[in-house]
Amino acid sequence: MTDVDLAQLREEYARAGLEESDLADEPIAMFRRWFDEAVAADLHEPNAMVVATADAEGRPAARLVLLKGLSDAGFVFFTNTRSRKGEELAANPRCALLFPWHPLERQVRVDGTATPLPPADVAAYFATRPRGSQLGAWASHQSREVADRAALLAAYDEVTARFPEPGEVPVPEEWGGYVVRPEGVEFWQGRPGRMHDRLVYRRTDAGWTTVRLAP
Ligand SMILES: Cc1cc2nc3c(=O)[nH]c(=O)nc-3n(C[C@H](O)[C@H](O)[C@H](O)COP(=O)(O)O)c2cc1C
Repeated sequence: MTDVDLAQLREEYARAGLEESDLADEPIAMFRRWFDEAVAADLHEPNAMVVATADAEGRPAARLVLLKGLSDAGFVFFTNTRSRKGEELAANPRCALLFPWHPLERQVRVDGTATPLPPADVAAYFATRPRGSQLGAWASHQSREVADRAALLAAYDEVTARFPEPGEVPVPEEWGGYVVRPEGVEFWQGRPGRMHDRLVYRRTDAGWTTVRLAP
C-alpha cells in the first residue's frame, strides 16, 4: 500500500437530500427511480450489488453479483446453486443486498429472503447469455477448488467440444437464480457533516411503513 493516510481519507457529501415527501409508495418503485438515476449518471455497472449470506452457523460472506431483474416479487440474480452462496442460501435463505452508488453519494440496502427461481425463468435467462458464458457455466463448478488454471481451461475445451455449434448449450443442472423478496429497504443519501438521510421501508401485514434512522 502507498503512504495514503487512511484516517484522513474522507469526502464531504452535499449532492442531494432525501425527504420523506420524496419517497414512492413502495420500495420497488423507489428503487427503480434511483436505479434510473444511477444509469443516467453513467455509473459503472449500476446493477452490481453486494450479496451477503450467512451459513447455518451464522458465519457471513459477501460477494458482488449482478442484478438481472426487478419485479414486484423482488430482486433477481443468477448464479451457481452449488456455489458457496448457493449452499448458504439453501441452509439459510435470509440475505442482504447492497448497491454502493458512491458517485451519487447513495447506497441502497435490502434485507430479504431468497427463493430459487422456477426452471423456466432460469432457462429463459440462460438462453440470453453469450455462448462463451454458457460454456463457462458448464466448465466452472463455482466455488469448488481447482488444481490450477490449466485444469479450468481443459474443462472449458471439453464442454466446447461436447456442445458443438450451432447446437444450443443446455442449462447446467447446477445453474440457477434467486428472487430476493424484500422485508426492509433503506435509501441512504450522504449529507454534509455526516448528517446523512436514511429512510427505510419496512414490510408489515398492513403494507409498507417508512421510518427515518439516525445516520
Ligand atoms: C462486478 C461483478 C459481477 C458479478 N456477477 C456475478 C453474477 O451475476 N453471478 C455470479 O454467480 N457471480 C458473479 N460474480 C462473481 C462473484 O463475485 C463470486 O466470485 C462468485 O459468484 C462466487 O461466489 P461464492 O463463492 O461466494 O458463491 C461477479 C463478480 C463481479 C466483480
